[in-house]
Amino acid sequence: MASLRILGALLAVLWAYYFYSQETFSEDMVQGKRVLVTGSSTGIGEQIAYDFARMGAQVVVTARREKRLQEVVQKCLDLGASSAHYLVSDMSNLTSARNLIEETKSLLGGLDHLILNHVGGTIGVGPFHGDMDAMMNSLTVNLLSYVELTVAALDVLRESGGTIVAVSSMCGRLPCPFSVWYSTAKFALEGFYCSLRTELRLRKVDLPITVAVLGYIDTDTAVQSMDGKVTMVASPKDECAREIVKGGVLRQREVFYPYWSTKIPLLLRDLMPGCMDYLIGRSYVVDKFL
Ligand SMILES: NC(=O)c1ccc[n+]([C@@H]2O[C@H](COP(=O)([O-])OP(=O)(O)OC[C@H]3O[C@@H](n4cnc5c(N)ncnc54)[C@H](OP(=O)(O)O)[C@@H]3O)[C@@H](O)[C@H]2O)c1
Ligand SMILES: *[C@@H]1O[C@H](CO)[C@@H](O)[C@H](O)[C@H]1NC(C)=O
Repeated sequence: MASLRILGALLAVLWAYYFYSQETFSEDMVQGKRVLVTGSSTGIGEQIAYDFARMGAQVVVTARREKRLQEVVQKCLDLGASSAHYLVSDMSNLTSARNLIEETKSLLGGLDHLILNHVGGTIGVGPFHGDMDAMMNSLTVNLLSYVELTVAALDVLRESGGTIVAVSSMCGRLPCPFSVWYSTAKFALEGFYCSLRTELRLRKVDLPITVAVLGYIDTDTAVQSMDGKVTMVASPKDECAREIVKGGVLRQREVFYPYWSTKIPLLLRDLMPGCMDYLIGRSYVVDKFL
């Protein structure tokens, strides 16, 4: 009993220490900051842009659909952005990806937060039958364009003391059946950013990288492709965006959203991989994917 009480007290102290040592987020941290958000014509990226806009940042949004981007820019201005621009760019074209950073620099004169969020690919969910074109396309859009943008932005971010946020997924850490091409890109993305983060630290380069690990979020694309096929419940995209923005601005290593439904499976993965596999199987209605 006594030892339990000591353990309890120790945990409480650790928790309190952790809680109070966290820097708190305030909106002034964002006011006037120069931000590029990729994949921001819709979904989580669009919400991230609105969040930055609301706090008075200078926002550049980018994706392929110009008409949607124009609407997002207008809404950013309405919400209170210091400035809002859009750049049309297709991330399956790596030259176009690289140019985005130069174009953003000429619009804003620099960059403070690079938010890498876009996701694309030629096929939706379904069984993996070895389609190499789909795999190459996914790796180009979901991995290599992220690398290009990161490389192109290193100098400008170092100059401004800026940060990078890379949006990942549970599919970048856990088995993700019926989205093999997507999961492959996300696992690689995690490898790239976690190695680069540590290497930059060892090289004494002050450039924080935040990786956002997301569960199932209620964006139109996700709900359309997963509705009725999984037993999971989607979480709200606006709250998700807010957590990503906070984590990035506070220079956190990782953001987990929704917190417990990402954290617990990840702990289980290492402690009880067989159990994890079983639970993943239980959350998919397999017939609907075939
Ligand atoms: N929703 C979820 O359940 C969920 C779960 C885990 C992780 N995530 C991650 O969260 C991020 C956002 O997901 P989301 O659900 O918000 O996606 P989404 O609604 O489908 O939005 C994807 C964005 O990427 C853009 N895009 C797609 N292909 C592109 C290309 N070739 N070039 C340039 N832009 C392109 C789209 O715009 P255009 O079509 O106009 O180009 C759109 O703005 C992704 O990194 C995703 O992996 C989402
Ligand atoms: C890729 O983008 C570059 C720069 O925007 C452009 O010059 C080139 O034509 C594009 N390539 C293709 C295949 O669309």
